[in-house]
Amino acid sequence: MHLHLKNILTPDELQTARRLLGSDAPWIDGRSSAGGQAVSKKQNEQLSQDSGNARQLQAMVLAAVNRDPLFFSAALPKKIFNPLFNRYSGDANFYGPHIDGAVLHSKATSQWVRSDISCTVFLSDPGDYDGGELLIQQVQGEQSVKLAAGDLVLYPGSTLHQVSPVTRGTRLASFFWIESMVRSTEQRQLLFDMDMALLQLRRQGEGPALVQLTGSYHNLLRMWADT
Ligand code: NI
Repeated sequence: MHLHLKNILTPDELQTARRLLGSDAPWIDGRSSAGGQAVSKKQNEQLSQDSGNARQLQAMVLAAVNRDPLFFSAALPKKIFNPLFNRYSGDANFYGPHIDGAVLHSKATSQWVRSDISCTVFLSDPGDYDGGELLIQQVQGEQSVKLAAGDLVLYPGSTLHQVSPVTRGTRLASFFWIESMVRSTEQRQLLFDMDMALLQLRRQGEGPALVQLTGSYHNLLRMWADT
């Protein structure tokens, strides 16, 4: 399953992101963050993590996801890897099929994060580049994801995925991983579906059945969550 969350970043935040990710930003070879197997398949650029630009952008993206109740419900985050930023353009324009590393060490927080969920926040307007689709291999077939600037996609970290070549323009994005309080994708999905249904029911008024169902949601979360 993958989940699309709209307008995670405001237009002002997007403008700030594009300014801080301009041509004078400290871009480095994206292969510096790829594991051995991924190196030969990865051809993009990444913002140096040790830069003021990166720190400012990381704080902005983290604040944005943390204020979104849908993000919390879908991810049930325990730890969030400090957001990273990449650029696909010119000759550095693709990332072949791969599965992300299972545990990642965050320099910013000096901690290990298990990648239960992978996230991408699209920062460029889709009309500004050709190609650059995030292709996610799932049981129901390959999903092609190319979202509006400011939107986020969230998908299981265990899935094979790739970024198709950008043949015109520049694709800027932020990407990061989440270690969830609920490790199982199936359990997390069930809780999210239930939470969304409860949200709809609540609009029709509270009643004893809704109180019971809300309690059942929390009791399932209590059973499965690891904080
Ligand atoms: Ni990846």
